[in-house]
Amino acid sequence: MNPTEPTPAPSADGVWEDLRLAPGLAQADVPVPATDSASVVVQGGVVRWVGPSSALPAGYAPLPRHGGGGALVTPGLVDCHTHLVYGGQRANEFAMRLAGASYEEVARAGGGIVSSVRATREASEDELFALALPRLSALLNEGVCAIEIKSGYGLALEHERKQLRVARRLGEALGVTVRTTFLGAHALPPEYAGKPQGSQDYIDLVCHEMLPALAAEGLVDAVDVFCERIAFTLAETEQVFQAARQLGIPVKLHAEQLSDMGGAALAARYGALSCDHIEHLSQDGIAAMKAAGTVAVLLPGAYYTLRDTHLPPIEQLRAAGVPMAVSTDHNPGTSPALSLLLMANMACTLFRLTVPEALAGITTHAARALGLQDTHGLIAAGRPANFVLWSVREAAELAYWFGNNPARAIVRQGRIVKG
Ligand code: NIG
Ligand code: FE
Repeated sequence: MNPTEPTPAPSADGVWEDLRLAPGLAQADVPVPATDSASVVVQGGVVRWVGPSSALPAGYAPLPRHGGGGALVTPGLVDCHTHLVYGGQRANEFAMRLAGASYEEVARAGGGIVSSVRATREASEDELFALALPRLSALLNEGVCAIEIKSGYGLALEHERKQLRVARRLGEALGVTVRTTFLGAHALPPEYAGKPQGSQDYIDLVCHEMLPALAAEGLVDAVDVFCERIAFTLAETEQVFQAARQLGIPVKLHAEQLSDMGGAALAARYGALSCDHIEHLSQDGIAAMKAAGTVAVLLPGAYYTLRDTHLPPIEQLRAAGVPMAVSTDHNPGTSPALSLLLMANMACTLFRLTVPEALAGITTHAARALGLQDTHGLIAAGRPANFVLWSVREAAELAYWFGNNPARAIVRQGRIVKG
């Protein structure tokens, strides 16, 4: 090994014993009675068996032991909607909004997404990597084992490429599953603003040049659009979806955040993995999402930061049986959040999710929103070893405390990265 390379974290292979499984977040090979402690067997970085310690198959008995000390164990957390790679920050807009300006007013005054575009274009790939590293480290330190990272602050081929390359490099450098999402249709780039046909010309560029080039470079796991009055129309959104479909890439959508544009129903028609924000989602949108198996991604950090008062239709989503995920939406404008557990807390407090819904929202349902439902978001035999041991007595505490990180030990990609 190259002597300058960091030593890899220790292997998690062995029997993890004296654990308590969080309800609904593990699939045991043998049912675990409430009074019994659980064991999780890891071999070759993969979970091989989950069940009561008393029923451990004899073949696993010689493996090394990792004492869990009675900790609660959950799958590694999944943050399924982030804009983690960008230059600069926007604390000034925070001040403007406190003084009464709305998100739309800030955007129309030349702030908003476009101000992050300026700073992102000015930064080199290495600078963007160095800026994003501590943000990602903060999320990982709280147990995130898979994360989505969007582009959308470059808005030109070379700069979108830079963002997506940084996202890939982050995954490799920190040993975490990263799903990249191309969000070229996030905002109209300044050089197109005010031009007749500017929006259509830019969408053509997104569909015919940027997306095919970035996809060919293996940088695009999914395609997203900001469908909104201050961003792109329904018709423009559909053009981007068609381009994605031609390349066989799944889509997702920033839908109905500030108004009901009918975006969710369109996204569902394209089999979208998820519709995100959805404060203004209609009953038709809900029905379409249910039929398509599209996940509803709730972003309480943006709702809170924008001091929004229009709640997403939680009760109707619940009644329809649409899976709900919860994410940080980490971004410099509307959600500078670096704690997924805090989002779970806010999803309960602000949106009235139940605790089991919030915990499924940051694990199993978040994995589904990324197309990772077969590998992440559940502790089960055959899946890569990604799990977290928590210093809490009951699962509800994960959504109850805030401003506190109870992650005692973290196993990510089969390695003990904390504890
Ligand atoms: O998810 N809604 C659009 N995109 C981001 C905000 C981006 C920004 O303001 O920089 C969001 O909230
Ligand atoms: Fe977003």
